[in-house]
Amino acid sequence: MCGIIGLLSEHRDVVPELLDGLKRLEYRGYDSIGVATLNPNGELERRRTEGKLAALSKLLHRKPLSGFIGLGHTRWATHGAPSEINAHPHATPEAAIVHNGIIENFQEIKTRLLTEGRCFETQTDSEVVVHLVSQKIRQGLEPLAAVRETLPLLEGAFALVFLFAYHHDLLIGARRGSPLAIGFGENEMAIGSDALAIGPICRQLIYLEDGDLAVIRPGSVKIIDQQGLSAVRPRRISSVASLDLGKSGYRHFMLKEIYEQPQVIGDTLNTMINPVTGRLSLPNLPELKRTNRLTIVACGTASFAALIGKYWIEKLARLPVDVEVGSEFRYRDPVLAPGQAALFISQSGETADTLGALRLCRKMGQGILSIVNVPESTIARESNVLLSTVAGPEFGVASTKTFTAQLTLLAALALVLATHRGHLSEQQETHLIRALMEVPAICAEILANTGPMEALARELLAPARDVLYIGRGLSYPLALEGALKLKEISYIHAEGYAAGELKHGPIALVDENVPVIVVAPTDHLFSKTASNLAEVNARGGRTIFIGDKDGLAKISNLAGSLILPKIDPFVIPLVYAIPIQLLAYYAAVTKGTDVDQPRNLAKSVTVE
Ligand code: F6R
Repeated sequence: MCGIIGLLSEHRDVVPELLDGLKRLEYRGYDSIGVATLNPNGELERRRTEGKLAALSKLLHRKPLSGFIGLGHTRWATHGAPSEINAHPHATPEAAIVHNGIIENFQEIKTRLLTEGRCFETQTDSEVVVHLVSQKIRQGLEPLAAVRETLPLLEGAFALVFLFAYHHDLLIGARRGSPLAIGFGENEMAIGSDALAIGPICRQLIYLEDGDLAVIRPGSVKIIDQQGLSAVRPRRISSVASLDLGKSGYRHFMLKEIYEQPQVIGDTLNTMINPVTGRLSLPNLPELKRTNRLTIVACGTASFAALIGKYWIEKLARLPVDVEVGSEFRYRDPVLAPGQAALFISQSGETADTLGALRLCRKMGQGILSIVNVPESTIARESNVLLSTVAGPEFGVASTKTFTAQLTLLAALALVLATHRGHLSEQQETHLIRALMEVPAICAEILANTGPMEALARELLAPARDVLYIGRGLSYPLALEGALKLKEISYIHAEGYAAGELKHGPIALVDENVPVIVVAPTDHLFSKTASNLAEVNARGGRTIFIGDKDGLAKISNLAGSLILPKIDPFVIPLVYAIPIQLLAYYAAVTKGTDVDQPRNLAKSVTVE
């Protein structure tokens, strides 16, 4: 939520690099955007606008801005509508700030400052920060002292970067809850929400810990931890500099990322399969091996991966699994016996609700495991054991390749647990590992012929106002994921249901205008799902079947169908994820929505 960046150069104008960094941060929010610099006289200057980077570039063309030091911000609105006035950086004559997070006690602070005669120009929570700091500077404090007196007054989560009038060689960053990384470039220092923002500029990075304050000057950074003591954080080489961060000729990042899945699934498997023995091995998971119950917490798409993980682990390893969404779990006073294990699944590794749940579980004596795509993220760093999805950066706001990478790890985890707990023979394990290893090729085969998905999305989904997705067993979480994908990028109202639940209420929605997508691969539940499909048909509904040839032969009266290769039921979620993603993608393209940056959303959800 909101991307922030600060740059300090000894030799060049930082505005082009700020814009470049903001481009890579847009996945965090994109409703308004701005930059601030110091002019040669040391005064603060800003350019801000509603909209995305393109709007800011246009504005800068009309009203140029330059400077050797500056801040940038791309916003996902929490308090105050997306508008130029509410866009960051917020500034006074003394200082400018960019903020990611929420200042929960902003109203109290604002009321007090208003009575003291300060004037506010925005409806944001963030503006109080710049007023507090400026007030202290006016009272005679140096910038660092002013920031140190301000931070304890703030409640909530924040990553903040401060720029001060007449201080050409100073940026201050502070982190509580929201992530911040600092980069060391050639005659350049950078600070930003993540490595993607600053990695291409800086070969070496450090990540601030919670409570850290960073004083950035040319060539150096001084870190003060939450106890007020000087601290050292390890420097790492940025892996981002060498990555391909473009669309490689694809029309959208989402499409590129869908097509990367055979590779990503294969790469993730290769991190776990011993090439000599052909057997799976995962990092040592002592709590998991001891536990008699596993709690999995995640949000959104990651929570549907978790649900599939539950089905796999319970069936194969006979270990009870609870799946919860972070926002509910952390506030409902859950009962957890010490010494059990909890698993957190997150692409970004920064989702506030998932992270809050992790910290609660840690307090309650749980062993903490995570499945994360960004290894330097907070969730990754706060886990006892990290299972990394090796999917590379995902820019499309809708998760695709990271979903299947999460599933790959969960499938492997289920097999390792099943073997360890004595529920799977070596022969069965070998069979299921082979099935997993065939997935990349099967996915590649499906991706080689996307015409039927495109046609179906264009003809049946894009014109619809409402769409239902149903499935049973492993296909039920896929139905949930299919509906989420469709609504988030095409804005078509869609709901996913367990196929057996349809008759308990949702079937009332069925008429000839509501396409019902039935995810029904051939598995032990096929005939039951086929009956549910028939029930929809009997009520004049229009059913779209996603399954295989054997299944198709057993049903009739379809409005449309997608036929996939026949596969081992174990790997259904990995393979069927692809048509589900593509149906949403092509429906969105037909409707002309902003596929990579759908309205109202952001990729990294660092607020509650
Ligand atoms: C949907 C989507 C979101 C995320 C959710 C959790 O396509 O991407 O539902 O899955 O916001 O994000 P992470 O995985 O970063 O914790």
